[in-house]
Amino acid sequence: MAVSIKSAREIELMRQSARLLEDVFSGLEEAIRPGISTKEIDRLGEKLIRAHGCEPNFLNYNGYPASICVSVNDEVVHGIPHAAHILQEGDIVSLDAGLIYKGYHSDMARTFGVGKISEEAARLIAVTRQSFFEGIKMAKAGNHLFDISNAIDAYVTPHGYGIVRDLVGHGIGTRLHEDPQVPNFAQKRKGILLRAGMTLAIEPMINMGRADVEWLDDDWTVVTEDGSLSAHYENTILVTDGEPEILTMSGKCE
Ligand code: MF3
Ligand code: CO
Repeated sequence: MAVSIKSAREIELMRQSARLLEDVFSGLEEAIRPGISTKEIDRLGEKLIRAHGCEPNFLNYNGYPASICVSVNDEVVHGIPHAAHILQEGDIVSLDAGLIYKGYHSDMARTFGVGKISEEAARLIAVTRQSFFEGIKMAKAGNHLFDISNAIDAYVTPHGYGIVRDLVGHGIGTRLHEDPQVPNFAQKRKGILLRAGMTLAIEPMINMGRADVEWLDDDWTVVTEDGSLSAHYENTILVTDGEPEILTMSGKCE
């Protein structure tokens, strides 16, 4: 398993890629409202990505047919946008998007409430977000990769939520998915030693009910088996000798 260490030049390109993606996300967040279709969200996202002179990295990735993954309520990730799928007040919607800037990939996800949402749904979104921050505290040179996984699990599990095990975070750089895989649940081993210059996409996916997921017949959309709500929170980050740098959080996006 070869985990790439980015040079100073590459890190700067990753930073720029991530900043542009953050900008795309703030445009998408503003568009979320009851009545918008998931297809309109995808079209807006693709337009914003291309307006920056970038390419959507999800489009045609292993045949994925859109630029933005739009996953509603019990859809965990990789929801395919449809014109007939209209967001309703009270839904929660996970947007996952990425782009390529001068050959460098960024990847990011957030779950938003549509209009007013239940307290339970808001709590799921908040815990999912915080689990990322618990994990990233461990993303320092000299720590081991699975310190991140263990920290996410230790924070989420007492809430009684199910941590998705079938999908994981990943290294990122000149490819969307690079080594290593970054699980969000406790591991028996330590994992690789983290080194400055590694860039990772850390992305907990948390279900209100059980952890089990299944794939719909479209071969993409991942849903919770028990029909419970699911939330997703992802950033592209840089491991340094000190505090990690959250490349997709330079200021515009919570
Ligand atoms: N952000 C997603 C991930 O890391 C990428 C989705 S690939 C796509 O798994 F093909 F679904 F777009
Ligand atoms: Co990802």
